[in-house]
Amino acid sequence: MRNYLSVVGFISLVNCQTTLDQPPGPNTFTPTLTLESTANLAPSVTPNVINPTTPNAQEKCPGYIASNIRTDNSSIIADLALAGDACNAYGNDIQDLILNVQYQNATRLNVKIYPKYIAAANYSQYILDASLSPSGKIEEKSTIDTSDLLFEWSNDPSFQFRVRRASSNEILFDTYGTKLVFEDQFLELVTAMVPDYNVYGLPEAIRGSFKLPNDYTQTFWNQYNEMNDQPVDANMHSVHPVYLETRYDSSTLSSNSHVVYGRNLHGQEWVLKPEKLIYRAIGGSIDFYFFSGPTPTEALAQQQLGVIKTPAMMPYWAHGFHQVRWGYQNWTVLREILDGYKNADIPLEGIWNDLDYLFQYRIFSHDNNTYPVPEGREFLAKLHADGQYWMPILDPNVYVPDPTNGTDSFPTYDRGNELELYMRRGQGNEEYYIGDQWPGFSVWPDFLLESAQDFWADEIERYYQDLEFDGWWLDINNLASWCTGSCGSGRTQDNPIHVPFKLPGEPGQINYDYPEAFEVTNATEAASAIAASISQAAAYPTPTTTIGTPTVGFTSPTPGVRNLTFPPYALNLTLEGHSLLRQSIAPYAKHNDPYNSTSYDLHNLYGIISSRATYAGLLRAKPGLRPFLLSRSTSPGSGSIVGHWGGDTNSRWGNMYMTIPEALTFSVAGIPFFGTETCGFNGNADMELCTRWMQLSAFFPLYRNHNSRNTIAQEAFRWATTAEATRRVMKVRFELLPYTYTLFWKANQYGETVMRALSWNFPSQEQLKSVDNQFMIGPSILVTPVLAPLLREAHGVFPGIGEGTRWYDWYSLEEVSAAPGQNVSLSAPLEVIPVHLRGGAIIASQTPGNTTKQTRMNPWSITIALDDKLEATGDIYLDDGVSLEPEETNVVSFKFADLNLSISTEGTYNDNNPLASITVAGWRGDRLTKVSVEGAGPDAGVHCEGRHSQWNRRWYQHWYPHNDHQYSQVYNCRGLNVIVAGGALSKDIKLRFE
Ligand SMILES: *[C@@H]1O[C@H](CO)[C@@H](O)[C@H](O)[C@H]1NC(C)=O
Ligand SMILES: *[C@@H]1O[C@H](CO)[C@@H](O)[C@H](O)[C@H]1NC(C)=O
Repeated sequence: MRNYLSVVGFISLVNCQTTLDQPPGPNTFTPTLTLESTANLAPSVTPNVINPTTPNAQEKCPGYIASNIRTDNSSIIADLALAGDACNAYGNDIQDLILNVQYQNATRLNVKIYPKYIAAANYSQYILDASLSPSGKIEEKSTIDTSDLLFEWSNDPSFQFRVRRASSNEILFDTYGTKLVFEDQFLELVTAMVPDYNVYGLPEAIRGSFKLPNDYTQTFWNQYNEMNDQPVDANMHSVHPVYLETRYDSSTLSSNSHVVYGRNLHGQEWVLKPEKLIYRAIGGSIDFYFFSGPTPTEALAQQQLGVIKTPAMMPYWAHGFHQVRWGYQNWTVLREILDGYKNADIPLEGIWNDLDYLFQYRIFSHDNNTYPVPEGREFLAKLHADGQYWMPILDPNVYVPDPTNGTDSFPTYDRGNELELYMRRGQGNEEYYIGDQWPGFSVWPDFLLESAQDFWADEIERYYQDLEFDGWWLDINNLASWCTGSCGSGRTQDNPIHVPFKLPGEPGQINYDYPEAFEVTNATEAASAIAASISQAAAYPTPTTTIGTPTVGFTSPTPGVRNLTFPPYALNLTLEGHSLLRQSIAPYAKHNDPYNSTSYDLHNLYGIISSRATYAGLLRAKPGLRPFLLSRSTSPGSGSIVGHWGGDTNSRWGNMYMTIPEALTFSVAGIPFFGTETCGFNGNADMELCTRWMQLSAFFPLYRNHNSRNTIAQEAFRWATTAEATRRVMKVRFELLPYTYTLFWKANQYGETVMRALSWNFPSQEQLKSVDNQFMIGPSILVTPVLAPLLREAHGVFPGIGEGTRWYDWYSLEEVSAAPGQNVSLSAPLEVIPVHLRGGAIIASQTPGNTTKQTRMNPWSITIALDDKLEATGDIYLDDGVSLEPEETNVVSFKFADLNLSISTEGTYNDNNPLASITVAGWRGDRLTKVSVEGAGPDAGVHCEGRHSQWNRRWYQHWYPHNDHQYSQVYNCRGLNVIVAGGALSKDIKLRFE
């Protein structure tokens, strides 16, 4: 950042497009038997939202009447009884309900509606236990009188309620004029919405905008679409029924925001219409939380602190850059990738493995030919000595060995089998549910059982004895299974069986897709890719016969019974046929808990329960150390233990752009440690896409490049320009590490957010409500990426600029000169991503090394970006970066005012790195020449050198012709280590600029 010349004068670089090579090597696992593709079929259903012939519950159902109302200081409890004949629209109406409203604290209101009579046998059908997903409690002293949220209700014509913000009188949620529908397989609640509402959240979905459209349905049911993991606007791997709403008041130029969280993890839909929002679930109860904000960041903090828990602190090294590919064939290849990065002088923190390291895709194994343990130990010893890390993949499915083949043993299966801890077939059958996953027919540990949690932690610890992995990324915990029902029952002698579709890299499965505009930048390669694709299609024709599946129309409710397989209300699921059975463990599969819960009720919770067991295992293997764990599937509460990646992204520009809205929705859901497959997983990247994506992802908390087996290599060192761009952007990422790490600490402590929408930091500016081509990191860093091919400039706005906010270019520290709301075009040659620093911030950085470990041993420098009062503040949190509960910490605060910089510390963690330089940007007035340190001798003055931009100077000379010193100046002061040796940030210091 101090290198002002780095953006000037680009050397021209050679960028040959690598031609498509063969897959990285032969598939080491080629079973002889393949599961027939018909095993993956299921009868189809018509989703309710596109089926006009299904019942209209609002017309048909009677609603409820409240009685027996009991009110105290902090709660309202009432009975609700069906107001007429049961309508049984999509299930059996529940006659008697309880309304339980809790004023949990001044900013949090909880409205619960659940059946009055619940037997143990249907407990998990209605109640989401606090042990599965966190819930809030009434806080001491919280009362109706002091609440910022008011609950109003009426029985006229049937029970209806409103939530109002006391301070402004606005109605935040409003079911007046609609009916509550509460059945055993269907809930419906309708709220009126303000015109043109601004609603954000409801992950997980890939969407074209962060602000949700006002005509949109979000379906929630975890599914894995193996053929297209990035369906737009559809259900995916995680369920977070939460949204943030912001309302602007143009008369006062201000806004209020609140958060609504529907705490229920059954299959469900949030149907957004222009004037209303319809909430529908196929089970569970109404358990809505309202958080009053009134700023977006306050509302999100209230949600995290009050209910879902604050995000985990990841180890410091998790914030480095990571490389993985499905297709790294052996330890030697991993070493070559490490060397590739080293030779290109690109920092690499972690080398990861996809399925390749496993023996026939069986978890907790290793392929003895390609990934033998002795070689692995040597590999890991060197890796760890170099300050680098190994992150293998882990799936929760357990391979069932062929019982007829004595040599096909799988000890992990046997140990679990001994404890009988796998999930059951259900429908009265107590045998294991046997589905299909990568290794063949498999079973799933029932993580509701303590014995299963223990078994899992044990397996992890056992594996650690062999190979000292550093963390896991937990995949396929969305309960995906590649066949319908317990298809392996009675067939395990066919194991190991191949999944019922071809895998990337198998014959005929080379991917010839390239990003948009590839034919412009690489015409020859594009033409040969098309030719190759045509000859592949000719050599491996796709079967033309399609097998029809029966259609299940609307299933009428059966009195007293639930239809778990084909519930009357059909969700708009993304997979062909829309059935709950598709590519998932069947909803009738059973857990072994005291309630005999079905997968219908707990399907969306397998992600969090498997995450918890894995987290516990990591702690058992490495006591006291913060686990680094990612989970494919998440639900509310997951953020307190895991990070998340966005699934198998495509190597397309559109997909790259959509990672921004996706990341921001995970900020809403309290999972800030989010990142996507940089350069795309499916399809081939090209130089330009990979360059821009490496730049963009450098500002996401998780920074990982990952691609599939059947595409060209895409490590950052493969193209000269990508390598150069990556070196530059990683320098920025590493300079920001102390800042980002501190943001994570604030997230963990106070529920603050890390990656932010511009509108969150500038809540009064309505024109920012839809901005998602730019984003911020914390309060002070603005990123304006290039999101389309062939562009050499980026476009963005500088929020607050008309109201005194000053912005500085990160690289030159030149002040931005823009009009309020102006869509500024910023020069962005391929090697550069525009990044800006907000005036008023103080950023402390360490000189970047090639790993975070090296960087943590380097000198500090401080950048002071002045606001319009010529002041700035900042703080950083320091600890050892790895301990779960660090004994020594230090919070260092910086304050610049009246030419004094004070550094004050709070804590005992001793960082003994020196202070190399201080840079002041945006100074106006007499020239600064030196810095002295309070208490040091008169000789201890440090010389400062001033710089200023010619452009800025001309601008100021134009406006202030008689006051040449008004232009924005940059000063750099060095030589401070003389006076503050032995740890610049471990004692209180006052410095004076003159
Ligand atoms: C590792 O895999 C690569 C790529 O398939 C292959 O060329 C090489 O021979 C393998 N090396 C060893 C030691 O197995
Ligand atoms: C209410 O709870 C939130 C967390 O949801 C917390 O930040 C806040 O301090 C609490 N307010 C009061 C008045 O206790």
